[in-house]
Amino acid sequence: MTTGFETVRVALPGRDYDIRIGPGLLMEAGAHVAPLLRRPKVAVITEERVAGLHLATLEAGLAAAGIICEALVLPPGEGTKCWAELERSVEWLIAREVGRGDMVVAFGGGVIGDLAGFAAAILRRGVRFVQIPTSLLAQVDSSVGGKTGINSPFGKNLIGAFHQPSLVLADVSLLGTLSERDLLAGYGEVVKYGLLGDEAFFDWLETGGPDLARGDGAARIRAVRRSCEMKAGIVERDETEQGERAHLNLGHTFGHALEAATGYSDRLLHGEGVAIGCLLAFQTSAALGLCSQETPGRVAAHFEAMGLKRSLRDISGELPDADGLIRLMAQDKKAQDGKLVFVLARGIGEAFVARDVDVGVVQRLLDEALTDRRS
Ligand SMILES: NC(=O)c1ccc[n+]([C@@H]2O[C@H](COP(=O)([O-])OP(=O)(O)OC[C@H]3O[C@@H](n4cnc5c(N)ncnc54)[C@H](O)[C@@H]3O)[C@@H](O)[C@H]2O)c1
Repeated sequence: MTTGFETVRVALPGRDYDIRIGPGLLMEAGAHVAPLLRRPKVAVITEERVAGLHLATLEAGLAAAGIICEALVLPPGEGTKCWAELERSVEWLIAREVGRGDMVVAFGGGVIGDLAGFAAAILRRGVRFVQIPTSLLAQVDSSVGGKTGINSPFGKNLIGAFHQPSLVLADVSLLGTLSERDLLAGYGEVVKYGLLGDEAFFDWLETGGPDLARGDGAARIRAVRRSCEMKAGIVERDETEQGERAHLNLGHTFGHALEAATGYSDRLLHGEGVAIGCLLAFQTSAALGLCSQETPGRVAAHFEAMGLKRSLRDISGELPDADGLIRLMAQDKKAQDGKLVFVLARGIGEAFVARDVDVGVVQRLLDEALTDRRS
């Protein structure tokens, strides 16, 4: 027996799956996962913070359907997306004889989803896995769409594979234990969906966003659902990012450079970099005459109302100069043949990929932002 939840279907031929969204899904995890299993046993990969708060509930939820689980508990944080933890995870799975017919459960935020998904992708050339995302960012973005991987010392997400999950269980009640900062960082990815492709969703977020931040369950479900619907639609049309999927990178060329510049540390979380990057992308679009001059102001006003980081001013410590940031952008894996690729916009909800951006315009904008930061 399961209680009420909403479903978004990701319709990929031969690899279609449900994203189930609702409160209390963790306690019912066994009922959702059991139909996918060949034997009543799963291997859970998680991290210390999430395990301390929620692993007992997951274990009880699985046990209620007669499913036994063993868990590998890794350290929390971006540093876990590395070769050493990948090796540890894969060897742990092999030692537990997790085979082709078995199921790995990725239980955590985007870090665990990416790492455990990649471990499942390369274990015995591909074992199925379930995503149980616990952060807002993971519920609206990283658990959906099959991008898995780890970071290289040369940059973020440079090692990985496409491997779609068999099921995503997004239990919105888990968001209640997130820190305000992590919740807001995830919100950076929520607002990105409105900005890239759905102006009506952005309109709603201008009032619904503060409700979501205050803990309104209905607002959280609506935001997670709409984000997942948009991501599912884009992934169905362009699974391996030959075209439209690149729109999801709105804010990421700037954001990844800022994350690299801050050493992937807690000076700047991924979703915070995305939010600052989205605003820079709208400012670039306005400077190039692609969107109205008022549009970046509307985006900035919403970010301010939400208490989101929105400019280079909001990043503590030293930053490279504009040339240094542009060099970091050129290293991003989205750069092609050394040319910078940006996702820009003709208005809210109208993103497109721009490959021939005048770097001088970006440089001037970054110079201004860096000067403003020093003033
Ligand atoms: N695969 C993709 O398509 C994709 C998309 C976007 C981002 N990402 C990746 O996702 C990662 C960022 O994800 P994230 O922000 O979830 O990071 P994260 O996994 O580090 O989680 C953020 C913080 O929240 C904590 N946390 C998670 N769930 C919690 C809960 N329910 N209660 C209390 N604390 C909780 C974690 O311990 C951590 O400190 C980055 O590595 C990024 O590259 C991947």
